[in-house]
Amino acid sequence: MSAPYLPSDFLWGAATSAYQIEGAHNADGKTDSVWDTFTRRRRKIRNRENGNIACDHYNRMPEDVALMQRLGLQAYRFSLAWTRILPHNTSALNAKGIDFYNRLIDRLLAAGIRPFMTLYHWDLPQYLEDQGGWTNRDIVGRFEEFVSVSAKAFGDRVKDFIVFNEPMIFLSLGYLLGIHAPGRRGFKSFFSSSHHVLLAQAAGAAVLRSEVAGAQVGTTISATAAYAATNTIPDRAAARRFDTFYNTFYLEPVLTGKYPTEHFPVLKKIERHIRPGDMEKIRYDFDFWGLNTYTRKRVKHSRFIPYIRWRELKNPVGAKETAMRWEIYPEGIYDLLKKYATYESIKKIYITENGAAFHDQLVAGRVADTYRIEYLKEYTAQVLRAKAEGVPVAGYFAWSLFDNFEWAEGYHARFGLIYVDYLTQRRYIKDSGYWYRDFIKSVWQQKAV
Ligand code: FCB
Repeated sequence: MSAPYLPSDFLWGAATSAYQIEGAHNADGKTDSVWDTFTRRRRKIRNRENGNIACDHYNRMPEDVALMQRLGLQAYRFSLAWTRILPHNTSALNAKGIDFYNRLIDRLLAAGIRPFMTLYHWDLPQYLEDQGGWTNRDIVGRFEEFVSVSAKAFGDRVKDFIVFNEPMIFLSLGYLLGIHAPGRRGFKSFFSSSHHVLLAQAAGAAVLRSEVAGAQVGTTISATAAYAATNTIPDRAAARRFDTFYNTFYLEPVLTGKYPTEHFPVLKKIERHIRPGDMEKIRYDFDFWGLNTYTRKRVKHSRFIPYIRWRELKNPVGAKETAMRWEIYPEGIYDLLKKYATYESIKKIYITENGAAFHDQLVAGRVADTYRIEYLKEYTAQVLRAKAEGVPVAGYFAWSLFDNFEWAEGYHARFGLIYVDYLTQRRYIKDSGYWYRDFIKSVWQQKAV
């Protein structure tokens, strides 16, 4: 087989998020986030697990950066825990929390790894949730304050920022359906919080640009390639509603100043939360968009399902799937990249998450996860295919660097390039981690030619 086309102007990295790996949930002045409180509720998380210890990254950070270096990562995407930095309902900063991220950033830079900082990966301070959380419009100012403090603390060394991670996922699961933190339900909470997140996103982005010289400001959306189950008009319309809901609802208002409600009237309910001037405030010319994508969905019209009027088909018989039951469909990432490239104002795209969970087995110190290697090979090939065709995709972050706390799914699904034995906290680079290292290395060798 010929060597794949590996462009030199492309970043290869891996991603994590604070609550999923850090642990140390009440160390050094950190207070509760909504995920700390949510995981204490009954019947919310598989096996009643939580992120109290997780990968203990807070205490093992130097070892973990050394592992990243062994993998040859060029970039590392991580998120800040808001309550380490601003633990109370005041402007008082927690020096120890800031110090942790300073040490992480300094080690990354010393190792030649470019830090990509996500400001918000779902762990809202509980003290803000107690005041209504994202449903309370005042949160926009509180978010700006948090972003400003972070920009001042880290912006001398960090230049790449992701303001939000996946609004659709934390808002639909956490504010509409109640299965993620903070466990709110209903249209009112969903639409008000959605609107406030978009206001906070543009406000936070503006803060970063004004306070950090040379900042590259982006934000990340979740995306799932959607295909109509048949070519009939109702199924095509159902796929379009699905696509609007999951792929463009938090994108188009930012690009155009308008919510994409014309094909999906239920979404018009958001309009009652709009105040004069808001839609202009939501617009923002991001330097890049982050895309997280894992699988695809086939969508069929269903008149029995209220509001959305679609249902998702089961995975095709014989299709390969992951431990999350997500179908492995590599062309999906290509189709999405082509789709987003049609928006003229999208200048640059990073795949900020892509990867697969499996029930990995550690046998004599080794994890032979050939299925994950296959997944990564096929998905990265489709990303590079899109790039070769002119899509402005500039990097790829594998999800995830480590096995970690997968939200309501707890620890049973392992997504890492590195296996974590949660009893001993020992880390083992999986075969897929070694594959990724060699893959990245081969890019450098091609560069040198
Ligand atoms: C995404 C999240 C990330 C992780 C992966 C599997 O939705 O951003 O934290 O849970 O899914």
